[in-house]
Amino acid sequence: MDTKKILVTGGAGFIGSHLVDALLSRGNEVVVYDNLSSGKKEFLDHCKDDIDLQVRDLVTDKELVDVLRDIDHVYHVAANPDVRVGADDTWVSVEQNIIATYNLLEAMRKAKPSDPASISFTSTSTVYGNASVFPTPEDYGPLMPISQYGASKLASEAIMSAFADNFGIKATVCRFANVVGSRSTHGILFDFYHKLKNDPSKLEILGDGLQRKSYIHVSDCVNGVIHATETQGSNFEYFNVGTADYAVINQIPGIVTEAMGLKDVEFHYTGGHKGAGWKGDVKFMSLAVDKILATGWKYELNSTQTLEKAVREIISDLEA
Ligand SMILES: NC(=O)c1ccc[n+]([C@@H]2O[C@H](COP(=O)([O-])OP(=O)(O)OC[C@H]3O[C@@H](n4cnc5c(N)ncnc54)[C@H](O)[C@@H]3O)[C@@H](O)[C@H]2O)c1
Repeated sequence: MDTKKILVTGGAGFIGSHLVDALLSRGNEVVVYDNLSSGKKEFLDHCKDDIDLQVRDLVTDKELVDVLRDIDHVYHVAANPDVRVGADDTWVSVEQNIIATYNLLEAMRKAKPSDPASISFTSTSTVYGNASVFPTPEDYGPLMPISQYGASKLASEAIMSAFADNFGIKATVCRFANVVGSRSTHGILFDFYHKLKNDPSKLEILGDGLQRKSYIHVSDCVNGVIHATETQGSNFEYFNVGTADYAVINQIPGIVTEAMGLKDVEFHYTGGHKGAGWKGDVKFMSLAVDKILATGWKYELNSTQTLEKAVREIISDLEA
């Protein structure tokens, strides 16, 4: 096992806290860097004595270079992950995703100019926009995101590519499908659960219900990112991290109501934006995952199994 001192930005969030668990279990020394805007200290309570938690902000931190001086590898997970917010606020993803990523890369290059830390970046399927090839491979193009969020992640990938070439920062870009599981604080299962708790007789579903999307369980996702990072040979690489199948949105209300023990719930469809849930939502997302599978990684659960397991985990978190 190759143990390292690793910094996880966004390590107190949903995906980040699972990544912290996986890295600790592999014997790494872990520094969690998080401004706790959506992350929660409670997600790290069980391992608080084993980590160094730095409550700091990537946008404003004047001492970021010092934090990075003795770091071997960075998992850059911090972001504003809300795709919907961009329809009203076009600045948040520029600041929290593009500027935060630039600040991090610039600090990495200054912290150890002759031997910079390497980085893994949690990007997203939304960089593909409304793709015309399914499943969509990593080399699909042109990339035309339709959300401010997707655009900000694509811009961050591009800046990272230039830093990799110019300053020798090895980078692994992982484009995630929809990630679900315990400690979720957003997403369709979380939304449906809260709507049904509010009114168990009816459920509003954004869009026409015919959207098709690939889902991955957070434990499969985290293992995928670590595996891609550890097996990557070249200096800069992209990997889709998802399942080879997808679920239709119409399946999900039944999965959630069954897990909550509800019957005779009326489902209402908003029609949304051109059938999608909201401005910036894609109607069909299915990722080609042959590249990461070829590295020897395997996921345990397909999209439907993922949703069935994750909703039970979310209910158990929220009703604990
Ligand atoms: N959840 C998904 O389905 C999904 C899909 C694709 C990609 N991603 C990406 O995965 C990553 C994690 O997403 P998540 O779902 O766990 O979201 P999350 O909101 O739970 O995690 C983001 C974390 O980053 C922290 N953070 C935000 N801005 C920060 C800043 N300026 N400085 C320091 N910390 C900051 C938050 O407090 C939070 O802990 C994000 O980069 C997101 O874009 C998520």
